[in-house]
Amino acid sequence: MRRKIIHLVAGARPNFMKIAPLYHALRASLWARPVIVHTGQHYDPQMSATFFHDLRLPDPHHSLNVGSGSHGMQTAGVLAAYESLIARKRPDWVVVVGDVNSTMAAALAASKLRIPVAHLEAGLRSRDRTMPEEINRLVTDAVSDLLLTPSPDASLNLRCEGIPASRIRLVGNIMIDSYEFLRAKIERAPLPAGLRSLTEPYGVVTLHRPSNVDDRRVLTRALRVLGRISRRVPLVFPIHPRTRLRLRDFGLLARARDTPGLHITTPLSYVPFMSLVRRASFVITDSGGIQEETTYLGVPCLTLRENTERPITVTQGTNRLTRLGAVEADVARVLDGRSLTGRRPRLWDGQTAGRVVRALREVSPA
Ligand code: UD1
Repeated sequence: MRRKIIHLVAGARPNFMKIAPLYHALRASLWARPVIVHTGQHYDPQMSATFFHDLRLPDPHHSLNVGSGSHGMQTAGVLAAYESLIARKRPDWVVVVGDVNSTMAAALAASKLRIPVAHLEAGLRSRDRTMPEEINRLVTDAVSDLLLTPSPDASLNLRCEGIPASRIRLVGNIMIDSYEFLRAKIERAPLPAGLRSLTEPYGVVTLHRPSNVDDRRVLTRALRVLGRISRRVPLVFPIHPRTRLRLRDFGLLARARDTPGLHITTPLSYVPFMSLVRRASFVITDSGGIQEETTYLGVPCLTLRENTERPITVTQGTNRLTRLGAVEADVARVLDGRSLTGRRPRLWDGQTAGRVVRALREVSPA
């Protein structure tokens, strides 16, 4: 029997840890042949190639090289380039992951050519349409044939939007598979070069959302607040390219570098970053994935956002939504031992990729 050709589409940094476990599980099955399609949304080695290396992925089989641009340009670039690729290759399935522009564009291209689409990490909703990712999530789920959800709240969101239960499968959180796959390496990893003098306790900071970094006043205030926190406890701040651009444009980069206790670094690849987070006393972030990883690791997470599409990290995990005006007091509470505790949500167990392969097989024609 011919192996099913399954495209795994990835474009931006948070996608790579979601396709990796599925790539390895599909490779191990006799049923399918996984093919990696990289849209090129993220292209810097530190945002892409280092992740392929850490996650033991081969070079992408197809690269669409769309690069940066406005939302419309980026989406259109993936749509046109991927349409032409799948029109030639006609894969049996297209699997898209997460909520970035590449996810939505690839799902649209495939569904119009009637190639079955599976969305892994379906059903998450912030109910905040000012976030581009919320639009991407809504559109992707609306056109996907199989909706693979990480948690019961996500399945419920889809049911409320009228999607029949037969198209929804609760499979758990695929990112935890990546963590478990590399756990031994993560636990052995030394602190990244340049951070060897760092001592515990310390905090980790990541910020890249337009709402936190695109406005000069907000970013200036964030830097001031981080400066005050870093007088009490060292902070490591790996800077996303978007944030670096804004810091430079607003003339804040030198101030960030000169802030005592604030360790600025380039973006870190998967293993060093997870090793840093695992030993951190707390994380301050606006990322989606880090809210989940900290819940899994039991590390207190202070999320600088007004809402989250991952409410289970708050109701069950160690995540709290906060604001610039409150985060200093939140950190003080954590350091004073009034820590945020939580538990691991069900099916965040490192076995999600196997459940995804079974779901794909079940709904595929023989
Ligand atoms: C994208 C995703 C976001 C995700 C984030 C993780 C969308 C709408 N947003 O946001 O959901 O949380 O990735 O990182 O898809 N840049 C580089 N090098 C790169 C990539 C980007 O310099 O390798 C610069 C670009 O010039 C661009 C900026 O960073 O101006 C933003 O990149 P973009 O991919 O548009 O969005 P992100 O902010 O990374």
